[in-house]
Amino acid sequence: MKDKFYVTTPIYYVNARPHIGHSYTTIAADCLARHMRALKGAENVFFLTGTDEHGQKIQKAAQAAGINPQDFTDKMVLVYKELWKKLDISYDYFVRTTEERHVDCVRRVLEILLKKEDIYLAQYEGWYCTPCETFWTGMQLKEGNCPDCGRPVEKITESNYFFRLSRYQDWLTGYIKDNPDFILPQNRRNEVLSFLELNKLTDLCISRPKERLNWGISLPFSPDHVVYVWFDALINYISAAGAFDAQDVYRSKWWPADLQLIGKDILRQHAIYWPIMLRALNIEPPKRIFAHGWWMVGQSKMSKSRGNVVSPLEMADAFGVYA
Ligand code: ME8
Ligand code: MG
Repeated sequence: MKDKFYVTTPIYYVNARPHIGHSYTTIAADCLARHMRALKGAENVFFLTGTDEHGQKIQKAAQAAGINPQDFTDKMVLVYKELWKKLDISYDYFVRTTEERHVDCVRRVLEILLKKEDIYLAQYEGWYCTPCETFWTGMQLKEGNCPDCGRPVEKITESNYFFRLSRYQDWLTGYIKDNPDFILPQNRRNEVLSFLELNKLTDLCISRPKERLNWGISLPFSPDHVVYVWFDALINYISAAGAFDAQDVYRSKWWPADLQLIGKDILRQHAIYWPIMLRALNIEPPKRIFAHGWWMVGQSKMSKSRGNVVSPLEMADAFGVYA
């Protein structure tokens, strides 16, 4: 489709209520979508947002609330939808990672990548930070704790499926160099490039054994594993905008996204994992990834899991929705 505009926000974890950081990204995307509708016509604009509903973080939040994860996420989704309604967010589609179309697309992606041998089975050993849903090597730990959030980590050994990030490192470095506007702002682009230049990418562990975590999408080729939540979540941007045909070719009138808005907390997943996943699937990268900064409380990032939050509902009541 010519002269269309496809903009996305991250899909937010439903572990807790949204705060002004989430509304910040979503309002920015909304402003752009409205502007582009005025320029190009409403039928040429697709504004996607949604919720990230699988993984350990959500399973734990549901457990703490004393309800099963599906009911928990069904309830939390309404909190997000109500906030977006209150803030008059004009999204065109709200994607949930528990919806059938998305689940089918994730399973299809896994099958395609397994066939290409971009996914393989191996033994995994490492340190896991549950709040961050991230594995670390012993070297990466900071005083024995998670280098990102400083919280304690658990040692884990298990059989898992891996995605061959390493195969595509040179391609990605070249792509970012050749496309100076792919990752913005400039300081974020430099951060990604220097990370790629200083580190050899290790393959990404994309499964979790069901005995440890069962709230997720089952691997089509292993009933004992679910998909790692980040691998599942990133696929929302294509599952909500198109589908694979019988020849494994992805078809969409919207893709590539013109702009993917994110916070700098999730730059690595979007600037490294995501373009490589797309490349492995023979799908074009998004045209632009823009990572904004953080709302802070004192010296810390405002964060749902920390609970140091300002409510967007209270702000809207105090100051109104249209400033
Ligand atoms: O990371 N300041 O979801 P999430 C500014 N599910 N923006 C903030 C912010 C802050 N203090 N806190 C959050 C996830 N945000 C994954 C995303 S995408 C395929 C999966 C905003 O609920 C910002 O956009 O932790 C950030 O990137 C996002 O919320 C993270 O939301
Ligand atoms: Mg977060």
